[in-house]
Amino acid sequence: MSVVLYPGSFDPFHLGHLDVVNQAAVLFGEVIIGVMHNPEKSSATFSVDQRIAMIEESVKHLPSISVQAFAGLAVDAAKSCRALCILKGLRTMSDFELEQQMAQTNFLISGVRTVYVPCAPALGFISSRFIREIAHFGGDTSAMVPSAVGNVLNKTYPPRSKK
Ligand code: PNS
Repeated sequence: MSVVLYPGSFDPFHLGHLDVVNQAAVLFGEVIIGVMHNPEKSSATFSVDQRIAMIEESVKHLPSISVQAFAGLAVDAAKSCRALCILKGLRTMSDFELEQQMAQTNFLISGVRTVYVPCAPALGFISSRFIREIAHFGGDTSAMVPSAVGNVLNKTYPPRSKK
């Protein structure tokens, strides 16, 4: 049984993320979901505390999963929790290109390896960005997020009334 760190911005956590966590729990045993800042994304829609609360509620049925906030580099977070490796989910080839660049850079600067888990094909199109956008305009995101996340989205952005 090993510990792996699954870092991300999770703004918000969605069913593709949950699928990766489920697969990693089977493969490795223990998964720490690391809520982090992506320097490419200037400001998050949900606070770190909100994101942690939504994820904790979404994974509460899974005993070997925990959620923590980390500042700084993902490799330092991985070392601080004695993770075997960093875990990343892959949806598309464009995900792979960026992830591979990060994985190789992270290995070079720290020796921390990255392992990829492909997300289930039926969920591979889901993105936090589009979920935020759809929710913002009152659309229905319920097929893309765990119910704990859906509840927060509905409170933050009241759904359009159906005609
Ligand atoms: O869910 P995201 O936004 O794709 O997650 C990206 C994240 C947070 C994992 C990435 O931006 C990251 O690792 N941030 C921490 C800073 C870091 O380690 N940068 C070095 C990258 S080589």
